[in-house]
This record gives sequence, C-alpha cells and structure tokens, in this order.
Amino acid sequence: MLWMVWDAFQATPMMADAVPRMALSAAPSGASPADVSRRFAENLPPRIQQAVAGWNQLISANFAGDQACAECHEKEYEAHLRSGHSRTLTRIDESSLANKLAETRHYQDPRRDQVFEFSQTAGSLWVRDAANASGVVVPVTWLLGSGTHAQTPIAIDESTQSGVELRWSYFANRDQLGLTPDHERFDEFAVGTIECFGRPMDAADMRACLGCHSTLTPPPSLPLINSLVVANVGCERCHGPRKKHVELAHLGHAEEAKPMLRYETAETYMDACSTCHRDESSVKPDATPNELVRFQPYGIKRSRCYLESPDKMTCSTCHDPHDTVSHNRAVSIDQCKQCHGDASSSECSHQPTGDCIDCHMPAVEWTSGIAFHDHWIRIPDAFSSDDSAADLTASDSPHNNGGK
Ligand code: HEC
Ligand code: HEC
Ligand code: HEC
Ligand code: HEC
Ligand code: HEC
Ligand code: HEC
Ligand code: HEC
Repeated sequence: MLWMVWDAFQATPMMADAVPRMALSAAPSGASPADVSRRFAENLPPRIQQAVAGWNQLISANFAGDQACAECHEKEYEAHLRSGHSRTLTRIDESSLANKLAETRHYQDPRRDQVFEFSQTAGSLWVRDAANASGVVVPVTWLLGSGTHAQTPIAIDESTQSGVELRWSYFANRDQLGLTPDHERFDEFAVGTIECFGRPMDAADMRACLGCHSTLTPPPSLPLINSLVVANVGCERCHGPRKKHVELAHLGHAEEAKPMLRYETAETYMDACSTCHRDESSVKPDATPNELVRFQPYGIKRSRCYLESPDKMTCSTCHDPHDTVSHNRAVSIDQCKQCHGDASSSECSHQPTGDCIDCHMPAVEWTSGIAFHDHWIRIPDAFSSDDSAADLTASDSPHNNGGK
C-alpha cells in the first residue's frame, strides 16, 4: 500500500547492506531481548541511525494512532476493537498465550521426535530443545493472528536480520498447540541449527508477514527493528496517515484533510483489501483449492454477482469493514436478497427459501479444523448444468487445477 510518506521514504537512498550480518546458527542465549535490541540500535552505523530517527519522525509527524480517532468516531472505534484487525500482531510479552505456555512448560511435536520447552523471563517467552539444539534459546518476538482462528509465533533476531516461524501454533477451536500450517514440509531438519525450531526466515520473509499484519513495517532500506513496527491493522492502514485530519478536525475543518486511500469504485475498494486478503494477482500459483477459500477477494472477483453487477458489490455489501464478521444467517440471507428475489435479478430455482450460504458459499476446511466460507459465489459443482457455469467449472475451477 503506497502512501505519500512511504514513497518519500523509499526515495531516500540508504543501504540496507550497511547493517551488520551474521549467520543464523545460534540465537543469543539468555540476554534480554530489550538489551539485545538496544545494543543493536546503538551499534548501527551513524547513517543508518539517522535513517531510523527519520522514520520515527515521519511516523510521529503523520500518524495519530487509533486512540486519537475514538473521541469523534466512536462507532468505528468500538467496532474495530471487536475486529481481528485490531489484534493481528501482538508482542509476545503482551499476550496471554505466553503465560499459558510458561505454565504448560512442554510441547511434544506431533511429527518429529522432539520436545520444546518454554520458559518466561526478561519480558520474553523462550523456547529451547536441549536434545537437538543444546545451548540455544530462542526468544519469541511476535504472535501473528488475533486468535479468532489461530496464532503463529515468529522470532526475529535483529542482530542477524533473520528469524524463524515457529513450528507450533495456537489453535482456538481446540484451545491447544498444534503444527503450524504448512510445516509438514519441514519435518526433516538439521540438528543444531535454527531449523530445529521451525522455518528459517530472511528479512524479506519477516517483512512480508509483518507487512500484512501491521499498520507500518519499516521498508527494506531500514533494518527490521521490532520497535519500528506499528502493530495491527489500525485505522490509518486503511485511511492513510490522519494526523493532519485530527488537528484540522479539532479546529472544525475536518473536511480539509482529504482521505489518503479511496474506496470510490468497487475496483479500488477490492484492490485495497486485496493487498492483504489476496486476489488473482497475489495468490501463489500452486495454491490448493482449500487454500484459495482463505482469499475472499479472489473468490468474490470470480463470482457472477460481482462481475454482473458492475460497481455495486464490494466487501461492504455484506460486511462492516470495521467490525468482526457477523454469523447471523438471517442478516446474510437478506444481503443476498438485496439483489436476488426482485425483478432485477434471478431468484434461486432450487431452494429459494433455504440458507443461501450453506449451498452457495459453503464453509470449506483449510487446515486443522479451520474453515473459511468460499467467497466464489456459484452454483454448487454437482448441479452446474448451465453452459456458462459449466465453462467456469471446466476451465477455471480451482478443483480442476492440476488435479490438486
Ligand atoms: C476532532 C474530531 C475528529 C477526530 C479526532 C477524527 N476525525 Fe475523522 N472526521 C471528523 C469529521 C467532523 C469528519 C467529517 C468531515 C467531512 O465532512 O468530510 C470526519 C471524517 C472522517 C472520515 C470520512 C471522510 C474521509 O476523509 O474519508 C474518515 C475515514 C475519518 N474521518 C477517519 C478518521 C481517523 C482514522 C481518525 C483518527 C486517526 C479521525 N478520523 C479522527 C472528525 C474527527
Ligand atoms: C494490512 C493488511 C489488511 C488489509 C489492508 C485488510 N485486512 Fe482484513 N484482515 C487482515 C488480517 C491479518 C486479518 C486477520 C485478523 C485475525 O487474525 O483475526 C483480517 C481480518 C479481516 C476480517 C475478519 C475480522 C473478524 O474479526 O472477523 C474482515 C471482515 C476483514 N479483514 C475485512 C477487510 C476488508 C473489507 C478490507 C478492505 C477494506 C480489509 N480487510 C483490509 C489484514 C488486512
Ligand atoms: C499477503 C498478506 C499476508 C501475509 C504475507 C501474511 N498474512 Fe497472515 N493473514 C493475512 C490475512 C488477510 C489473514 C486473515 C484471513 C485469514 O484468516 O486467512 C491472515 C491470518 C493469519 C493468521 C490467523 C489464522 C487465520 O488464518 O485466520 C495467522 C496465524 C497468520 N495470518 C500468520 C501469518 C504468518 C506467520 C505470516 C508470515 C509467515 C503471515 N501470516 C503472512 C494476510 C497475510
Ligand atoms: C480494513 C480497513 C479499515 C480499517 C482498519 C478502518 N476503516 Fe474506516 N472505512 C473503511 C472503508 C472501506 C470505509 C468506506 C465505507 C464502508 O465501506 O463502510 C470506511 C469508512 C470510514 C468512515 C466514514 C464512515 C461513513 O459513514 O461515511 C469513518 C469515519 C471511518 N471509516 C473511521 C475509521 C476509524 C476511526 C478506524 C479505526 C478505529 C477505521 N475507520 C478503521 C475501511 C477501514
Ligand atoms: C450486488 C448484487 C448481488 C448480491 C448482493 C448478490 N448477488 Fe448473486 N448475483 C448477482 C448477479 C447480477 C448475478 C448474475 C445474474 C443473475 O443471475 O441475476 C448473480 C448470480 C448469482 C448466482 C448464479 C451464479 C452462477 O455462477 O451461475 C448465484 C448462485 C448467486 N448469485 C447467489 C448469491 C448469494 C447466495 C448471495 C448472498 C451471499 C448473492 N448472490 C448476493 C448479484 C448479486
Ligand atoms: C455477498 C456477501 C459477501 C461479500 C460481498 C463478502 N463476504 Fe465475507 N462473508 C460472507 C458470509 C455470508 C460469511 C460467513 C458468515 C458466517 O460465518 O455466517 C463471510 C465470512 C467472511 C470472513 C470470515 C472467515 C470466513 O470465511 O468465514 C472474512 C474474513 C470475510 N468474509 C472477508 C470478506 C472480504 C475481505 C470481502 C471482500 C473481498 C468479503 N468478505 C465479501 C459474505 C460476504
Ligand atoms: C439446498 C441448496 C440451496 C439453497 C439453500 C439455495 N440455493 Fe440457490 N441454487 C441451488 C442450486 C443447486 C442451484 C442451481 C439450480 C439449477 O441449475 O437448476 C441454485 C441456483 C441459484 C441461482 C441461479 C438461478 C438462475 O436461474 O440462474 C441463484 C441466483 C441462487 N441460487 C440464489 C440463492 C439465494 C439468494 C438463496 C437464499 C435465499 C439460495 N440460492 C438458496 C442451491 C441452493
């Protein structure tokens, strides 16, 4: 998502290579993450230190923070607190999961002959595996995900600008730890390396994770320092920096600070959400049908509802983008009936009074008991007899995608 301040920052020439690098083999053992971080920041070359200060100034000059919006936009503010958007990225020391794990102490990996041990000191949750990586303790940095479905921990080692996506995640439906989705691919690992703990990540990997789960993540021209991240998908991720708007609003001139991001057409709207929720341009080519159901813009943009009601359908047709998803089916069915059921559009020829969602947007399991509603609204495969539907099924259906 490109903002003016971001662009200006990208244009400033700075060399990421000036950041010292080390091989990630043994994470620093036992030192408080805050101390490690402070030492790292102090030892950066002066030019990079200046750039870091510049980034901090840009943020404080342009961004007001969610709290600043509460006094005038109470409704959106309260809704946002209910939404997962306000909790997509939690510092481990501020999570309740850390306490829980420190009490549980051990976790047996379900696929490897490996036991992880947890402890909690110096404001962090530490993980160790004495048998396979003796002398190494990994301080967990962030939890990604609100916990509506799941939370996955990552550890960032600022001094090496590398990290690891841990092999275990928390699953809310079972209220316990389990294998991080996709980690079946990493059952084999090299003893004594960071692979013991999960999937190694370079700076670009970590920036990608944080980028979709935060309001601001420092660009590649800056070192990835945890304190430079503005966590969670806050108001200003979607509305752009609003400090000026807040100042002008206090003087009674709110309208003079125009919005940074526009949701005027269905296309610009869908693009804004797709930067994170993903559409056809950003899904991986090898994504399986079950994975694709996680990507709502991908689905909506393929459905005839979207394609044949030009500029009328966006996520807001059915959701308040500020709020958590409603599971009230009567409301959802009414939303379908806004378009289906009057003379301007078709009515269901099969079961027009039934629960539209069960048949046309069924819940599909993605992984480990986590299901998403398929946003590619269409006639269930088994019934598609109509030519256009058959065409779609034959050529485009993810169910026929390479036989996966
Ligand atoms: C002191 C009161 C006040 C504060 C604080 C405030 N706003 Fe507003 N905001 C307003 C008013 C008044 C309007 C209507 C302006 C108009 O008529 O265009 C508005 C309009 C908006 C709009 C809709 C129009 C647009 O520009 O897109 C958005 C979005 C918005 N504000 C976001 C925010 C966010 C985000 C924050 C916090 C960072 C915030 N506001 C803080 C008073 C405030
Ligand atoms: C910066 C990335 C980002 C952008 C941009 C974004 N989202 Fe999200 N959204 C997320 C993440 C991450 C979650 C998962 C939160 C969680 O773990 O529960 C999420 C969750 C949601 C949810 C579920 C919330 C809940 O509590 O049930 C809805 C609905 C949603 N997004 C709608 C939208 C819409 C509509 C837009 C565009 C106007 C949008 N999002 C833009 C990242 C983003
Ligand atoms: C392209 C943007 C994007 C990237 C990159 C990304 N996420 Fe997400 N993530 C989302 C969105 C959007 C959601 C909400 C939709 C969903 O739940 O799948 C989400 C949800 C989650 C959830 C909650 C479980 C769930 O599926 O609801 C976890 C955990 C998570 N992400 C972890 C990660 C981790 C770890 C990384 C980096 C390895 C990462 N994400 C990278 C956009 C992204
Ligand atoms: C995920 C993206 C997203 C986030 C986060 C978000 N908004 Fe919005 N907001 C939108 C969209 C999209 C609209 C356009 C109207 C709609 O679709 O409902 C909007 C509209 C608004 C409006 C205009 C409402 C109206 O009735 O005209 C205000 C005010 C506003 N948002 C304030 C906020 C505040 C305050 C926060 C944080 C507490 C916030 N928004 C967080 C996406 C977001
Ligand atoms: C903004 C208007 C709009 C909304 C809201 C809407 N649709 Fe549609 N839908 C259409 C249009 C337009 C078409 C294509 C022409 C037609 O069938 O009338 C369509 C087509 C369909 C089709 C036929 C798809 C195919 O591939 O042949 C189904 C099934 C359908 N809609 C179900 C739903 C359901 C279920 C909902 C609610 C979750 C819904 N629609 C919400 C406008 C809408
Ligand atoms: C035609 C209506 C409709 C539109 C348009 C729509 N959704 Fe949904 N969405 C639903 C329904 C229905 C559910 C399931 C609600 C329930 O659990 O009962 C849902 C669920 C979700 C969830 C929760 C996870 C899941 O799949 O169950 C997220 C996140 C979400 N939608 C995001 C989006 C985003 C982002 C967009 C825009 C790209 C969007 N939706 C557009 C109807 C819609
Ligand atoms: C029990 C499953 C089921 C339920 C519930 C259901 N549908 Fe359908 N719907 C179907 C099937 C199957 C077809 C295809 C029928 C055919 O081709 O003969 C269909 C067809 C449609 C069509 C395309 C009609 C056409 O002639 O192009 C629309 C639009 C539609 N449904 C909307 C809805 C809406 C809106 C609801 C909720 C009020 C709903 N459906 C409830 C199974 C269902």
